[in-house]
Amino acid sequence: MLDKKVAKLINEQVNKEFYSAYLYLDFANYYEDEGLDGFANWYEIQAMEERDHAMMMRKYLIDSGIRVTFDKIEKPDKTFDNHLAPLEAGLEHERYVTSLVLKIYKAADDAQDYKTMQFLDWFVKEQGEEEKNAEDLIKKMKLYGGDGKGLYMLNQELAARKYTAPSAAD
Ligand code: FEO
Repeated sequence: MLDKKVAKLINEQVNKEFYSAYLYLDFANYYEDEGLDGFANWYEIQAMEERDHAMMMRKYLIDSGIRVTFDKIEKPDKTFDNHLAPLEAGLEHERYVTSLVLKIYKAADDAQDYKTMQFLDWFVKEQGEEEKNAEDLIKKMKLYGGDGKGLYMLNQELAARKYTAPSAAD
């Protein structure tokens, strides 16, 4: 049986991951509206990955005999003045999510719940990758996004991103 506090934090994180999916779909909506379908594609796939994270945590709780409960998903309410702004908001959001994952990790450590710590290792690594992806995207946008041709090329590059389901071996 999972420690109560750990189980509660993971259940809360399920909601946060669904919110992340919602937030990134909202970014995709913005980019679709701006005619940048490659950027929209990138965030649609990001949203699918966030949903996967929620589902992985839900499954972990269920497999641990915990009744999962769903909460209301917050409304994404950001507005953007320029094409760089969602990318920066995305990085900020990922840093926040990392802090949440580490909080659960700490609670699991305090409860000597090594099984959950092992489960969370994947998420700690994933957060490192997601922060790096967000940082790289901002760098590229600052380098190439300033003129129409550069933005077009970057949009093409992001259009090529394909979804792959997460695997424990990642
Ligand atoms: Fe599920 Fe982007 O962290």
